[in-house]
Amino acid sequence: MKYERTSIAPEEISRQIAICHTLFDRVTAGGRRPLAMVDTYGCQQNEADSEKIRGYLAEMGYGFTGDEFQADVIVVNTCAVREHAEMRVLGNVGALNHSKKARPGQIIAVCGCMVQQEHMTEKIRRSYPIVDLVFGPHELWRFPELLQQVMERHKRVFATEKSSGVVAEGIPENRDGRVKAWLSIMYGCNNFCTYCVVPYVRGRERSRLPEQVVQEARELVEAGYKDITLLGQNVNSYGKDLGLDVDFADLIREINAIPGDFLIRFMTSHPKDATEKLFRTMAECEKCAHHIHLPVQSGSSRILKAMNRGYTREQYLEKVAIARRYMPDLVLTTDIIVGFPGETEEEFAETLSLCEAVRYDAMFTFIYSKRVGTPAASMPDPYTREDKQKHFDALMDLSNRISAEKHAAYIGTRQRVLVDGETGREEYNLSARTNGGRLVHLQADPALVGSFVDVEIVSGNTWALYGKVAQHG
Ligand code: 5AD
Ligand code: SF4
Repeated sequence: MKYERTSIAPEEISRQIAICHTLFDRVTAGGRRPLAMVDTYGCQQNEADSEKIRGYLAEMGYGFTGDEFQADVIVVNTCAVREHAEMRVLGNVGALNHSKKARPGQIIAVCGCMVQQEHMTEKIRRSYPIVDLVFGPHELWRFPELLQQVMERHKRVFATEKSSGVVAEGIPENRDGRVKAWLSIMYGCNNFCTYCVVPYVRGRERSRLPEQVVQEARELVEAGYKDITLLGQNVNSYGKDLGLDVDFADLIREINAIPGDFLIRFMTSHPKDATEKLFRTMAECEKCAHHIHLPVQSGSSRILKAMNRGYTREQYLEKVAIARRYMPDLVLTTDIIVGFPGETEEEFAETLSLCEAVRYDAMFTFIYSKRVGTPAASMPDPYTREDKQKHFDALMDLSNRISAEKHAAYIGTRQRVLVDGETGREEYNLSARTNGGRLVHLQADPALVGSFVDVEIVSGNTWALYGKVAQHG
């Protein structure tokens, strides 16, 4: 396959960091500590991007706040996957009117997937004059330069050029926690599912070089991170664009070889590219969590075809069976879209029956949302919102029932969990995750945050398990 990627030269990133240092003198003049707020919507890839934005801001001397009235710079990192997310962003950006009035000179930036769509950029240009800077996912690497332009030229800056995507190494990151870390291994998507806007806004698939990924994983382990999630829109096609004879399973194996006690997770897997080799590798690599998020989207082969998913109901079920043969304890989660254009009562019933057959540990369910420019947007959609809502509610009920049953089966078992944070509550003060990623609440010493501990599960409901630290011996 052709090697098509725009790699940003290391000197370019050094130039951006130098701009951060120039801005440092400007924004910290008089010895004050400027503050920034980064508000993130959408998926883990956006969380990871926001860590880079915060990394740059920290280089410029900014501290961070969650209060828009305290912030000198506000960056809203947006999502375009569903209309609901866009409406929330627009509502919240509009409300920043108040903080900007109270703090003249406040800079408001909107970035991410939503603004990579022309009609949205136009909307912001016309109807949201309080927004000073707009930049798409392909321009993130030059955020310092763009912010400098806003500060020096006192005019609005829009950077949303079309692009099939870039790969930029060496952007500073300001990570959110100290136990769990996101690690992007690739960007973009080539699949063009007919309902999805992602390939249009995030560009074509491009993988980071394996040595860069492994090096970053090693640094994370050395820094004490215990749970590393490899991120990509479709991690199973990792490496296909590199021509290096390395695939996703090989990458897992290399990361698994890094010394240390840590867990490897990953998101998201496209079922059509999930291979037996991947399942075998997961089973053989002791650091790889036995969890796979395998979005099925629909249980009907006709709808799957209309969605351009590249597998049938039967092929999907077969993959699940193979995965479970290698990992009988596999935790399986999924995404499902209800009400895809033209989905009939019978076709929805096939989704229900597939979920009954697979018995997912958790399901993320969405009502179809029409996205500008996607093929599904022009498909006939005769069913009403009420029909779709009814189906959505039925699927939710099923999903909740199965999750509760699955959690009930944990009661009385012993699990090795990673304690990842405090809940802020008096009772069950700690939160933890099982190897498969199920949430466990614990009552124990906060000093355990960041450690693996054995717990006995004492109860569970649809959403979580409850445990107590097991006595050894
Ligand atoms: N409408 C509803 N849900 C969508 N998703 C992606 N695009 C749409 C859309 N247009 C869902 C899919 C995907 C998840 C991240 O979001 O289920 O797996
Ligand atoms: Fe969207 Fe499909 Fe790509 Fe996932 S695989 S990002 S659903 S086009």
